[in-house]
Amino acid sequence: MIVFNKENRVFTLHTRNTTYQMKADWHNILLHTYYGPRVSGGDLSYLIQYADRGFSPNPNEVGDKRDYSLDTLPQEYSSCGVGDFRIPSIEFEPEDGSRLADLRYAGHELYRGKYKLEGLPAFWGGQEWETLVICMKDAAAKMSVELYYGVLEEKDLITRAVRVVNQGIGAVRLQRCASLCLDFQGDDFDLITFDGCHTMERCPNRAPLRPGIQSVNSLRGTSSHHHNPFVILCNHGAGEDYGLCYGAMLVYSGNFHATAERTQLENNRLVLGIDPYNFCFTLAPGESFTAPEAALICSPNGFGQMSRQFHRALREHLIRDPCKGERRPVLMNNWEATYFDFTADKLVEIAEGTQGLGIELFVMDDGWFGSRDTDLSGLGDWSVNLEKLPGGLEALVPRVQALGMKFGLWIEPEMVSENSRLYREHPDWALGVPGRPQARGRSQLVLDFSRREVRDSIYEAVRRVLDSADISYIKWDMNRSLSDVWSAALPANRQGEVYHRYVLGVYDILERLRQDYPNLLIESCSGGGGRFDAGMLYYTPQIWCSDNTDAIDRLRIQYGTSFCYPVSAIGAHVSASPNEQNGRVTSIETRGAAAMSGAFGYEMDLSRCTPEEREIIRRQTAFFKEHYDLIQRGDYYRLSDPFADPHTAWEQVSPDRREALVTLISGPTRAAAPFRRLRLKGLDPALRYTVNGQGAYPGDVLMEAGWPLPIPRGDYQSMQLYLSAL
Ligand code: GLA
Repeated sequence: MIVFNKENRVFTLHTRNTTYQMKADWHNILLHTYYGPRVSGGDLSYLIQYADRGFSPNPNEVGDKRDYSLDTLPQEYSSCGVGDFRIPSIEFEPEDGSRLADLRYAGHELYRGKYKLEGLPAFWGGQEWETLVICMKDAAAKMSVELYYGVLEEKDLITRAVRVVNQGIGAVRLQRCASLCLDFQGDDFDLITFDGCHTMERCPNRAPLRPGIQSVNSLRGTSSHHHNPFVILCNHGAGEDYGLCYGAMLVYSGNFHATAERTQLENNRLVLGIDPYNFCFTLAPGESFTAPEAALICSPNGFGQMSRQFHRALREHLIRDPCKGERRPVLMNNWEATYFDFTADKLVEIAEGTQGLGIELFVMDDGWFGSRDTDLSGLGDWSVNLEKLPGGLEALVPRVQALGMKFGLWIEPEMVSENSRLYREHPDWALGVPGRPQARGRSQLVLDFSRREVRDSIYEAVRRVLDSADISYIKWDMNRSLSDVWSAALPANRQGEVYHRYVLGVYDILERLRQDYPNLLIESCSGGGGRFDAGMLYYTPQIWCSDNTDAIDRLRIQYGTSFCYPVSAIGAHVSASPNEQNGRVTSIETRGAAAMSGAFGYEMDLSRCTPEEREIIRRQTAFFKEHYDLIQRGDYYRLSDPFADPHTAWEQVSPDRREALVTLISGPTRAAAPFRRLRLKGLDPALRYTVNGQGAYPGDVLMEAGWPLPIPRGDYQSMQLYLSAL
């Protein structure tokens, strides 16, 4: 619910459990007054403290009222160069070369429903949303800055976006435009970021904010394996089930920064948006720029509640699933089974090996096109390699379908190999500055997706492939970071637009694919989880979580990923043991239990499995299908922290709390292992549950007293408990 109090010009945004408030004060400065647990309302600006602080200047119109400073007051969207020395939200340069932004409240609009962002991913929905648009103006530069707020009350979700319009008569260069600024007066926080690298993504890191700026970002052109565009601010004592925390997410897949600042007055500011590095949009008179959407959830009851609200909001109001509530197929991908070394017959042999195991979709990974026998060549030539696949997809797909499976394939449309027909014909289609040899990544270059003709040509090639056979799924990959970012299609003074235009180009093609192939399931991927963000989830309902398929490393990766992203978005496969990435040996049961909490599949030659393993796989896929709703759409509870505890445990609970699935994977074994109990969460205390079909255990007992952990015999054992209310 959004309430505007005309008299004191206070905007109050209520969600079910939280309240967010701002006020246009008597100088038309938009002050942030409150964000936290839901309160009844009123004008909370009494909380704001005013004091004269040395070297914190005062706006001209306040005269000698020295306790009024933009440098000390909590700003809703921070200005630049006019007396607030904390992180600016916006920077622009009109033709006079000045770099000031002095934003004042100039009006607002309130309506039911959700605002839309042209060409950008965003949360969606109907009348359950409310929108507030606050118009801010810099009078001297004639720039208008519209602050968009979407309120989804039920999910505690507040979205934000920003649109800047040049209302002057000269060009303006926009050099920074954050999506979100959040000021807190009088709080003390920890910052949690989700960091890592290729094959070890999204590991949580937590530290108290210290004086100055702490920031994570990506300058790789993608959101990156290295830092995720999702961060948490929380009380020092906050944990899974207690304490105040704020999750902030950027719905964007390119360069970003999440920057927190602890100020001279020990207050905190968080700014989230496109990273200003090599960002500069020239806005001619009348032109506008829209910054990507950001989304906030505040939880007064710890991280668990925040995550569950994000999961619901993403599943129900951001992800567009072509399977529309139906179960997505259990897949088998040939990558780790064959790498580039396959023929149609070999693939069919592998597909035959899956018979009777419950696999529903066969995915042919990299290596089926052009001269793609290694990763040194072929990208860009999206036509079937007829030596490997005689008769093309037209011949192969029916053979796979005859085995009762759908067919899917891998593509990497944003890339080009120098050794390809496409590159020989269009060398200038790759990003790169003339006269400077480009850096290669995985021996490949990046196509300039900011250019329409490049996108159109690639799209047509992809269409030809998709139209040549009955293809149900594609894995859209992207295997390097952007470098040498320069577009032959833009003049020198507009090169600062390329990073963002590239991302818009990717979104454009993905949207076209969605429109032209509404039933096509797309899984995105960037060397695993290099572009695991809400922007991609808007187009692709699942993302390959990591190139690391080791079940035990995955526990950490999936744990970190779960803070923001739902199980249904997390591509997870059972692969061979010893594992390809780290050589670890784990049982097929453990690998299955870990992968099942994701968009589930297999990535190994199943024909090589023993009859016992095949029987276990058959049971795994049957179990997954039987409990699909619970696993994919249940409320997710983290029961342990794999970075701190020897074991990893999590739980999915059905919305009516009548069913739950607990999964536990133990760590390395030891003699004289201690006796331990696992306390369950989210059950109905008044109900009694059977556990794996046995007994009648009261919900309160299972939650308060727990369940004894099995004493492991061997490393990395797994246990699944299925609870059903009597
Ligand atoms: C990336 C993906 C892998 C696989 C290879 C193919 O690394 O993450 O799953 O598709 O590319 O080259």
